[in-house]
Amino acid sequence: MSSFPQLVFSGVQPTGNFHLGNYLGALVKFVEMQDRFDCIYCVVDLHAITVAQSPIELRKHIREVTAAFIASGIDAEKHIVFNQSQVSEHAELAWVFNCIARLGWLNRMTQFKEKAGKDRENASVGLYAYPTLMAADILIYRATHVPVGEDQKQHLELTRDVAQKFNNDYSQSIAHCGFGDAFFPLPEPVIQGPATRVMSLRDGAKKMSKSDPSDYSRINLTDDADQIAQKVRKAKTDPDALPSEIAGLAGRPEADNLVGIFAALQGTSREDVLREFGGKNFSGFKSALVEVAVTKLAPVGAEMKRLQSDHAYIDGILRRGAERASRLAAKNMAAVKDILGFVR
Ligand code: TYM
Repeated sequence: MSSFPQLVFSGVQPTGNFHLGNYLGALVKFVEMQDRFDCIYCVVDLHAITVAQSPIELRKHIREVTAAFIASGIDAEKHIVFNQSQVSEHAELAWVFNCIARLGWLNRMTQFKEKAGKDRENASVGLYAYPTLMAADILIYRATHVPVGEDQKQHLELTRDVAQKFNNDYSQSIAHCGFGDAFFPLPEPVIQGPATRVMSLRDGAKKMSKSDPSDYSRINLTDDADQIAQKVRKAKTDPDALPSEIAGLAGRPEADNLVGIFAALQGTSREDVLREFGGKNFSGFKSALVEVAVTKLAPVGAEMKRLQSDHAYIDGILRRGAERASRLAAKNMAAVKDILGFVR
């Protein structure tokens, strides 16, 4: 298969309550990857409206996620940061992919089933087609690497299936248009590290999520030092001491989660954390966790709050990012139109 220049793409929904799972599962990796790759980071507002949104809140949350990107250390001059709705090719390519993806593929998506719940008849068509828009986000730039949390793995598999089917269905035209044997790369999910699936602080069997009604289930990036400390102290645990080895975390989801969070915040491994805390009880461990969480997160949260109220600054980043992204997207969309046989 053709080789493609390495390019990173990832997205975050502006749906409020930006939390520790988003930070450790995605943002920390976004920042790490920017030294080695060209990166495009997108605030996916078109995805957000697959469920009801208040326009006032949505605008606030778009700026909040952008501020989180910048406060975490993403370099918006070197890389591209923008919001999805400013680059119309995302929606345009998503339509093409709606005609490539099969109903059977979308019917298997577990996230749709979870989000639609029991009242599936009343879910939006957009929520159902969400994964084809996500495929379009990535493939409109022909991106090769996608840093995400574990929960996005199935969507990435679908993205690869869409790319593969497009390449197969249009192989002759792709060659004829001068793109060799494949127009789209098969993007690699980058799901690594000790916190690819951060769980709720109240229930180790549930994912930490923006929509959990309990604020104690998650650490929000905008929480101050006191709130972080309170949430860690209240986090559910079990009565045993921490084990000295990973195997001892089996069947102890809350302990496993806190150890993973600690490791990710400190930039070490779970093994290292257990070497330090094995045999100790939770109260000492939690004090250390509060310290590392406050040290790492509180400054990011404070900077994020400062930036998000500076609308001119944030909106300027998004506008300039969108201009740069549009140039890349327009070129690839024109190629897709040629491949499909559209007259332009
Ligand atoms: P979203 O907005 O739900 O989450 C943003 C990122 O945070 C990760 N994440 C987590 N990681 C670890 N533990 C958790 N509890 C946790 N919760 C969320 C997500 O995996 C994600 O990486 N569909 C995507 C947005 C999207 C996208 C894209 C991503 C749209 N187009 C193209 C990559 C490429 C989503 O809903 O993420």
